[in-house]
Formats: sequence, structure tokens, C-alpha cells
Amino acid sequence: MSRAAGPAAEPSSERQRLFFAVWPEEEARRALAALARRTLPRQGKPVATENLHITLVFLGSVTPGQCACAERAAAQVTGPAFTLRLERLGWYRRARVVWSAPAQTPEALRALVAGLNRGLGACGFEPDTRPYHAHVTLARKVARRVDEAAHPPIEWTVDAFHLVQSRTHPEGSRYHTLRSWPLVAPA
Ligand code: 2AM
Repeated sequence: MSRAAGPAAEPSSERQRLFFAVWPEEEARRALAALARRTLPRQGKPVATENLHITLVFLGSVTPGQCACAERAAAQVTGPAFTLRLERLGWYRRARVVWSAPAQTPEALRALVAGLNRGLGACGFEPDTRPYHAHVTLARKVARRVDEAAHPPIEWTVDAFHLVQSRTHPEGSRYHTLRSWPLVAPA
């Protein structure tokens, strides 16, 4: 992940809150939403089904120039399509979120994140030095640990990544895909 470090003089109205992400196929999203309902019957705020995703790199609030630079950087990133299998459920006590994650982050996903971060450095984004933990946030405001054994495997083929705008509304976040780039199917 990286953070925007843009010019302070840029008007805030022109900035957009952006992130790179991969989006589960619809069937996987529905399975994740059902998992969240089963696991959290009486607590937390589930993430809307259409919003379920894995963040690759969080950019924060970026200027139009930085957005264009991020798009150019993304266009240089290539990689294979790969299968992502989510099978671990967990709870971050401090963030109060319940997440679903792969048992191990696939190498192709790690390489995708690293490739993006390399290109984004040239756009003035500060690299996030924390280790990358791929996860889908299933619910927020969760006060208690959940049954971590309750995760049937959920798989999908990741064949594209996206630059996404996040807007906050009274009813929650809305995401809008600005651009997508394909990952090439393995031969
Ligand atoms: P989360 O699901 O772990 O909360 C859009 O807001 C996406 O960017 C979310 O997936 C969120 O991750 C991530 N995100 C939001 N704020 C962030 C921050 N300050 N640092 C890293 N990721 C962030």
C-alpha cells in the first residue's frame, strides 16, 4: 500500500480517494456475503455484497495528476491470471473488522502488489512498509472474536485488477471502478 504525498496547494475538491483492488466474481461475492451472515448473526455491520473486494494498494486522496500517473504505472504492470482461494476467517481486534483471507497469499498476487508499488513510487506515493496481508473485509464494527473454523473454501479466478474510487455516503461507502487492466491467462 502507498499513501498520496501530493502538493498541499492542490484544491481538495479535485482530489479523489482511490485504491487498487481485485474484485471477486459474483458467485464468490455472494458466498462471502452468506458467510458473513452466518458468522455474524447478531453483531457488526456487514459490507454490502457489491463492495466485497481485496485491496492491493491504498492510494488515499490523490490529485488528478497523481491519478493519471497511477494509471500509467498500472498499465506497465503485467502478470498471469491466478486462482484465489479464501479459506481463513479472522478478526482484527483493533480495527474491529472480520475478514476472509487465503491460507497463503499466492505469489502472483504478491508480485502484482509489488509491481504496482514500484511504479507508484515514481508518482510520489510513499510505499507502505507493512507486510501485505490480502483480505476481504466482511464486516466492520465487530466487537467480539468470531468462530474462525467456519470458513468453507471460496475460490475465483483473478483475471483483472482495477483502480477504484471510494465515496462516502450516509448509508456507507460506494465504489466506482475508474479503469481495469487484464491479467493474462496462463498458457
Ligand atoms: P480494509 O478493507 O482493510 O478496511 C477502500 O477504503 C479500501 O481501502 C478498503 O478495502 C480498506 O481496507 C482500504 N483502506 C482504507 N483506508 C486505508 C488506509 N488508511 N490504509 C490502508 N488501507 C486502507
